[in-house]
Amino acid sequence: MMADDEHSFRRNNSEQNLIFKYRFTPTYRRLCLFIIVIIFICISLLNYNSIFKYKENLSLKLTINSSIPTLARILYLFICENQAEVDAYIQIFPSVTADAIFYCWRENCNSSSFHSSFHLYINTWSSKTKRNEKLISFQPISSFHYIQSRIFIVNEKELNPKQKLTWTTARNKLYEVALDEERNQNWRWSYYTFADGDVHVACPLAEQLLTNKTIVDYGNNEEYLLAPHFYSFINLTHNLTGEDKCFLLHDAFLFSISPAVGTITGSNGPMAFPGLLTQVLYHIDALFNAIHRDALPFLLPYCPRYDAQSWWTSQAIFVYRSLCLYGHVIGFDGIHLVTRKHRAYPRAGNPWAIDNDMNLVPDYLLRLKNYMQQSRFVSALVLHNYAGWNLELTSETCRSNHTAMKLDTCLVYGNS
Ligand SMILES: *[C@@H]1O[C@H](CO)[C@@H](O)[C@H](O)[C@H]1NC(C)=O
Ligand SMILES: *[C@@H]1O[C@H](CO)[C@@H](O)[C@H](O)[C@H]1NC(C)=O
Ligand SMILES: *[C@@H]1O[C@H](CO)[C@@H](O)[C@H](O)[C@H]1NC(C)=O
Ligand SMILES: *[C@@H]1O[C@H](CO)[C@@H](O)[C@H](O)[C@H]1NC(C)=O
Ligand SMILES: *[C@@H]1O[C@H](CO)[C@@H](O)[C@H](O)[C@H]1NC(C)=O
Ligand SMILES: *[C@@H]1O[C@H](CO)[C@@H](O)[C@H](O)[C@H]1NC(C)=O
Ligand SMILES: *[C@@H]1O[C@H](CO)[C@@H](O)[C@H](O)[C@H]1NC(C)=O
Repeated sequence: MMADDEHSFRRNNSEQNLIFKYRFTPTYRRLCLFIIVIIFICISLLNYNSIFKYKENLSLKLTINSSIPTLARILYLFICENQAEVDAYIQIFPSVTADAIFYCWRENCNSSSFHSSFHLYINTWSSKTKRNEKLISFQPISSFHYIQSRIFIVNEKELNPKQKLTWTTARNKLYEVALDEERNQNWRWSYYTFADGDVHVACPLAEQLLTNKTIVDYGNNEEYLLAPHFYSFINLTHNLTGEDKCFLLHDAFLFSISPAVGTITGSNGPMAFPGLLTQVLYHIDALFNAIHRDALPFLLPYCPRYDAQSWWTSQAIFVYRSLCLYGHVIGFDGIHLVTRKHRAYPRAGNPWAIDNDMNLVPDYLLRLKNYMQQSRFVSALVLHNYAGWNLELTSETCRSNHTAMKLDTCLVYGNS
């Protein structure tokens, strides 16, 4: 409503200007036009210069380390209780699209039941990569990077921490291990997908895409936007059983749509918006969050400050910080949750209540912060109108002052 009003207001204004202009006498009008044209040329020259310089600075700041490429490969980071939870993923990981790290909390786990690692050729990826561009191959392609699929296990007992890690600090440990591994392997994953180790999913959409491949370009078919990557991933596999297809579909979603944060919802009912696959969210559950590699510094590490009261607060703080990515936290309805156990952990009081000293979001976003607890989604998202998130879309203030956090106080600052 507001946008419409604003739009018609602007239109009325410009119509009035037009009428005003045409009342001038012809000579006066020509003189005016001439002056306007001269001013316009001067302004564009000035602007061109400063835009050019600004872009130069921007790219300097944003290319974090261009010698470490981001590859079309996803990392799943699970927090598990024991070997049984880890083993529930042996059919799924590593996949043609993803590696996985498991953090084992109670018992020591190992990767002995996973199938052995394989080699593959991976293209680089960014949100500007075309949806039909080849990303993965088993045959050599010269511009692709030759890599090995991986499973990592982190056992809490072997870390021997002074005190037991919480949901928050264990996720931070996974984050640290992943960043270290990127430095070793010399390439970056495209997405970090943090998930609880008891999460299992279903995806009728995958079957639909596989039984009916006659989906046509555009029209009403949003799924067509994911289909090229999905089909190419399926073509690289054998003997898929079910849930593994969902993870390939999820990865196709991330590579094709490139949200800043992607999530799935718990409902197995009809999609929130019939015929539309996605919705813009802000208040998201922690059970399954895929974070764009370039968005990680805006959101992580998780804040352990409130862990003694409630482990939910670190996710509330994640949600507050995600305001810097507002409009790009996307729920994907093509996959939904089927099982999840309920574990006991501290969750006293209102998880959204935090101290006043917290500078999680820029001042101009504080108004939105107050809405966070209220409702789940912001609006339907029409995928045909969504070009994906990238770093340039985030405000200068967020990029300068909201890309780092002190772990003890959870105060946010900039590291540029
Ligand atoms: C670019 O960065 C330099 C040094 O950080 C600064 O002095 C200059 O003003 C910046 N230029 C623009 C156009 O922002
Ligand atoms: C970029 O990464 C390479 C390889 O890890 C490293 O040698 C180099 O120092 C890094 N450059 C910067 C500017 O951080
Ligand atoms: C891996 O874990 C399983 C179950 O805990 C255990 O039976 C097995 O001996 C372990 N294997 C290795 C190589 O540690
Ligand atoms: C297959 O997809 C086409 C195009 O979207 C559609 O017209 C047709 O009804 C679908 N067939 C089935 C069996 O769903
Ligand atoms: C997948 O394989 C089928 C059959 O080999 C082929 O027709 C199709 O073009 C392939 N699709 C992609 C996206 O590679
Ligand atoms: C697929 O499954 C069949 C039967 O379970 C098995 O014989 C075959 O080796 C499997 N193929 C691959 C490539 O794993
Ligand atoms: C970042 O924060 C500093 C200190 O509060 C402020 O002076 C500066 O203007 C901020 N930068 C941006 C781009 O908002």
